[in-house]
Amino acid sequence: MTAVSLKSIREPVRTELKVFDRYFKEVMQSRIGLLNWVLKYLVKTKGKQIRPLLVLLSAKANGPIVQKSHTAAALLELLHTATLVHDDVVDEADKRRGWFTINALWKNKASVLVGDFLLSRGMLLALENKYYTILEILSRAVKSMSEGELLQMEKSRKPDLTEEVYMDIIKGKTASLLAAACAAGAASVTDSQDAIKRMESFGMYLGMAFQIKDDLLDMEGSTGKTRGQDLLDRKITLPVIYALSHSEMSDRKQMQRLIAKKKKTRTELHRLFDWIAEKGGVEYAREKMLHYRTLALSEMEPLEDSESKAALAQLCYYVTDRKK
Ligand code: IPE
Ligand code: IPE
Ligand code: MG
Ligand code: MG
Repeated sequence: MTAVSLKSIREPVRTELKVFDRYFKEVMQSRIGLLNWVLKYLVKTKGKQIRPLLVLLSAKANGPIVQKSHTAAALLELLHTATLVHDDVVDEADKRRGWFTINALWKNKASVLVGDFLLSRGMLLALENKYYTILEILSRAVKSMSEGELLQMEKSRKPDLTEEVYMDIIKGKTASLLAAACAAGAASVTDSQDAIKRMESFGMYLGMAFQIKDDLLDMEGSTGKTRGQDLLDRKITLPVIYALSHSEMSDRKQMQRLIAKKKKTRTELHRLFDWIAEKGGVEYAREKMLHYRTLALSEMEPLEDSESKAALAQLCYYVTDRKK
């Protein structure tokens, strides 16, 4: 398949995305000067907005879009933004989307509070409209994300991190929100538990592929983030897990020592990149990612054919081929 662009994937919900855009900007405001300043910066440096896109496509693939779908879309991007602001504090990252992070510009204190603001702003959107199902879906996702980030904090620097625990981590920190986006989209237009569950597991598989790709991008270098941030953080991801478990003892010990080094030189970082690729870690992670993409695609097969269904399938390809 040739490279798919987000523009064509957005097409079936183009007008709905315009409504989302207005709605999102409207809620990203505050009377508090400093907060408003940060919110404006976040709007200006917005990302790909894949989660609201997932909400709207998942809704439209299951029935006509309604106000509830729009609220869910805005809610998703608010929660996603909140978790990124917090994540960049946790990871001490200073670049995101090609811009300085909130913590780099306004320090950790403001970042934590702005993240909290976005989180509660999002939840209130559902509550104010009495969209309790949506609220429940999203609250569960936020809980899973916090658990995922904490599990990662506990385990991801352990040299014996297993693939199983890695999968648990990414399911919690990333896939659960993509699953929630798809479930919330479906739940905004149908009561069918089957339909909602199906969209949820579609999103979960897609989310697994999404995070494996994110971890690969971290090594390849992507636009907008620091290359090798994970290794600089001593964070072990799937390509590393594979490489470690497929090397000789002495080689392994040497690499583990290098990974554990707090300050790595450029040369050391590149040595690690090379070694991981040589051991087949990159190739293995790629295969796993494609495996999850296949699972996602098969999950949505029973959906009735529509432009939105086709766009969801294309999104699966976009996620695994993306450069940022
Ligand atoms: C980044 O997600 C965080 C992860 C779950 C890896 P995105 O890549 O969707 O972020 P933006 O919003 O487009 O920047
Ligand atoms: C992404 O975590 C998941 C969340 C933001 C909760 P990472 O730390 O791996 O993602 P990036 O690479 O900073 O976006
Ligand atoms: Mg991060
Ligand atoms: Mg992180």
